Amino acid sequence: MEQDVLILGIESSCDETAASVVRNGREVLSNVISSQIDIHTLYGGVVPEIASRKHIERINYVIEQALNEAGVALSDVTAISVTYGPGLVGALLVGVGEAKAIAYASGKPLVGVHHIKGHIAANYIEHKELTPPFLCLVVSGGHTHLVRVQDYTCFEVLGRTQDDAAGEAFDKVARAIGLGYPGGPKIDKLAKEGNPEAISFPRAKVEGSEYDFSFSGVKSAVLNYLNACEMKGETVCAADVAASFQQAVVDVLVEHGIQAAKQLGEDRLAVAGGVASNSALRFAVENACKREGLELCYPSPVYCTDNAAMIAVQGYYEYMAGVRSGLDLNAVPNLAME
Ligand code: KG4
Ligand code: ZN
Repeated sequence: MEQDVLILGIESSCDETAASVVRNGREVLSNVISSQIDIHTLYGGVVPEIASRKHIERINYVIEQALNEAGVALSDVTAISVTYGPGLVGALLVGVGEAKAIAYASGKPLVGVHHIKGHIAANYIEHKELTPPFLCLVVSGGHTHLVRVQDYTCFEVLGRTQDDAAGEAFDKVARAIGLGYPGGPKIDKLAKEGNPEAISFPRAKVEGSEYDFSFSGVKSAVLNYLNACEMKGETVCAADVAASFQQAVVDVLVEHGIQAAKQLGEDRLAVAGGVASNSALRFAVENACKREGLELCYPSPVYCTDNAAMIAVQGYYEYMAGVRSGLDLNAVPNLAME
């Protein structure tokens, strides 16, 4: 019988300290996430220096818990995978340093994983039938990418945002309407009480590159709308602003994803990243895929936002493809997709 491949995944690229053990690339044995949201909420956003310090305080406990919950010892683990970019450099360094120390001490192979590839791989956890090639719309706080997953370790970026990422726009608009951090989930909730057609915000197209995105225009339009209301002494209905802004972003995301799928002759679409848990996006993309006869998959919310299970899953496929990182692995804050 083939031996199980157990990957210990470590993630610390932003404000979640996370560790997970995954068996044979698809079965999550543990998924421990220590969120720093409470601390960063006090400052209205992620404070990089605080994030790094909190990662240092927590990472050993998080890893220990992940091994305990999985019921495995470090000696049972086949390889260590860790996010080495993109992300906050100080935050990434904590996970990378920890993973290198564990790999060195235990003599286990080390596999550096690209954070966005991890987000895409989150889809494999609950969709056992999903295998490449497929089209994936990645919408997170730092990235908005339309990616063709050619193989588990081979990706073609078809489009990307030219300015703000979708999640970033959610966070900035949330701050402007006084919702605070983290903005995405708060806008999602408030938008349920508002009218998505109350205010007409722009749906940006990028001239000459049909799969690229731009969200700074819609963000500025919201800020201008709020300023104009203030100047005229008009009261703002925050729920209508949230719903109308959210709809503008969702429309663009869905249109790009569907258009690319049709033009490239794809029969399914995957969605990934923190914004993939947005309820309006899920509703719209579900309807559009049904209408166009496309298969759709996206992860449960716990695997949409940052977690280490997705890093262990992608780590498994990289490991099986022969990828190994040396002990000189470094954090790369702007790590590219290819
Ligand atoms: O993927 P992620 O956890 O971290 C990055 O890799 O960036 O994404 C975090 C982003 C934040 O901008 C957050 O506001 C957004 O995802 N987000 C949401 C929702 N949940 C998280 N945006 C809209 N609706 C949500 N329900
Ligand atoms: Zn992420």
